[in-house]
Amino acid sequence: MNSIPVITIDGPTASGKGTVASRVAQTLGFAFLDSGALYRLTALAAAESGMDLGDEPGLARIAAGLDVSFEGERILLSGREVADAIRAEAVGVAASRIATLQGARSALVDLQHGFRRAPGLVADGRDMGTVIFPDADLKVFLTASVEARADRRYKQLIGRGFSASMQAILQDLRERDARDTERAVAPLKPAEGAHLLDTSNISIEQAVEKVLGWYQPVTQ
Ligand code: DC
Repeated sequence: MNSIPVITIDGPTASGKGTVASRVAQTLGFAFLDSGALYRLTALAAAESGMDLGDEPGLARIAAGLDVSFEGERILLSGREVADAIRAEAVGVAASRIATLQGARSALVDLQHGFRRAPGLVADGRDMGTVIFPDADLKVFLTASVEARADRRYKQLIGRGFSASMQAILQDLRERDARDTERAVAPLKPAEGAHLLDTSNISIEQAVEKVLGWYQPVTQ
């Protein structure tokens, strides 16, 4: 039994879970795990070593050997800053392929458990409440309509100075949702006992308030 508290926040791409999770972590003074970044880091490391996405044992080896450290906003892969590089579209697409492979997923389990440190952890991803931290103190499943998520992603891209097409974003989100929810291993679904939170029509601040309101620290 691990007594260090964990809050899991799972949900589909662009549901706002990353922002909500990091703000909840900041408010509580907890550590924060962006588990999607680990799949993205595996994808980046694989691309850089010329690894084929069909080489399952090779990808599992890369995942198991990731030399990564998170320092605030910075993400270092073998000592090199890659926080922006892992957000590239192509890296996201490769990450979502790698995420369907049991070998790569298993290789990342210990790394994820290592983020559970006092005084607590907020973990965001797809299988945080179902597979990685099934004993979490609070499990949240964030949803939002595909239109609301596409709208957020569109504004985010434009805000960063990229050009963007609403049609292309909608199609991409639908394809990713299908891959995340229909895969055989650790598919995206609400954990048993998870609180469902639809953020289509509420702000990030309201979502953070909701999650904090659900969290009841165990006092000994
Ligand atoms: O949340 P994200 O877009 O950074 O995640 C990148 C990919 O990794 C995405 O396709 C889903 C996958 N993923 C996963 O399978 N399990 C997790 N816990 C986190 C992400």
